[in-house]
Amino acid sequence: MEKLFNKVELTNELSKNDIIELLNSDGELLFKKADEVRKKHIGNLIHLRALIEFSNICKRNCAYCGLRCQNSNINRYSLTKNEILQTAKHAIDLGYKTIVLQSGEGDTTNIKALGEALLEIKKYDVAITLSIGELSYENYEYLKKCGADRFLLRIETTNEQLYNNLHPNMSFENRKNCLYNIKKSGYEVGTGVLVGLPNQSIESLAEDILFFKSINADMIGVGPFIPHNDTPLKDELAGELNLALKVMAITRLLLPDINIPATTAMEVIEKNGRLKALKAGANVIMVNVTDENVRKNYEIYAGKCSVDYSKIKEDLLSIGRNISYSKGFRGEK
Ligand code: 5AD
Ligand code: SF4
Repeated sequence: MEKLFNKVELTNELSKNDIIELLNSDGELLFKKADEVRKKHIGNLIHLRALIEFSNICKRNCAYCGLRCQNSNINRYSLTKNEILQTAKHAIDLGYKTIVLQSGEGDTTNIKALGEALLEIKKYDVAITLSIGELSYENYEYLKKCGADRFLLRIETTNEQLYNNLHPNMSFENRKNCLYNIKKSGYEVGTGVLVGLPNQSIESLAEDILFFKSINADMIGVGPFIPHNDTPLKDELAGELNLALKVMAITRLLLPDINIPATTAMEVIEKNGRLKALKAGANVIMVNVTDENVRKNYEIYAGKCSVDYSKIKEDLLSIGRNISYSKGFRGEK
């Protein structure tokens, strides 16, 4: 394995077989290496992002997700422009330098109002990330002009067959095209996958990682699949934290200077999963700042809403890391 690490250190490349070998390892050495690469290329600071889940309305029906339109067991909400602004202002007052606005995939009539909210938020000196799904090229461009800096759109899996099975009436081709359009519109691009989906192979995860590399993603978020009770996948096994961490760590080796969050799903699947991720290549944490009363309705997977964010600072200090007060674009130390 030392040979692989030397190779990737020199070239930032690995073959599919190399990646499979690392995915089949116990991860111990890999995590250590990814931690070193993170430290060498982007240093010790952790970027905190303030996450606002502004609407749980979704027209999609992804088989794994609690927000899927066929789940009638949740109260749907959509924050008004003023409510979004209030929440954002509160986060900015707390010192956050990035506001992440996330929602289900909704109707395009709200895009204009969202753009207006962005213009307001941009009056403060912060970066904005959007995570609102597939849009037309015009809408990506419009929101970029209104001040959005980054866009997250997970590919979820690069195995087309698996993608089609999990995403009724969606097009894998269009998803890739959206990522291309996001990049073309000038955003920093974030993508990622679910790890441990039913019928997902190690080989397919290796291809996912090579896809991240091939589009030169600026941000990669991966997390274990966690079954949600009101979905068709409710009886499936959850993904393993260790495998998700390996996918993340290999991504760090191939893309040394990008932003990689220790994802909430990692913490939900195992207490201290977030800490493990930060010691295996991650350098970002998304902190949910959504009002408690609506947050409980944004249950993408079981247990998501019970994450305790209060001891993040303690955690960071315990592993010798500090909080960044910059906007944290790719490559920023
Ligand atoms: N388990 C883990 N992650 C999930 N997501 C959706 N449903 C689940 C689940 N059951 C992730 C998807 C989506 C992101 C917002 O949440 O990857 O892109
Ligand atoms: Fe909607 Fe996103 Fe959930 Fe799919 S993963 S159902 S698009 S919120």
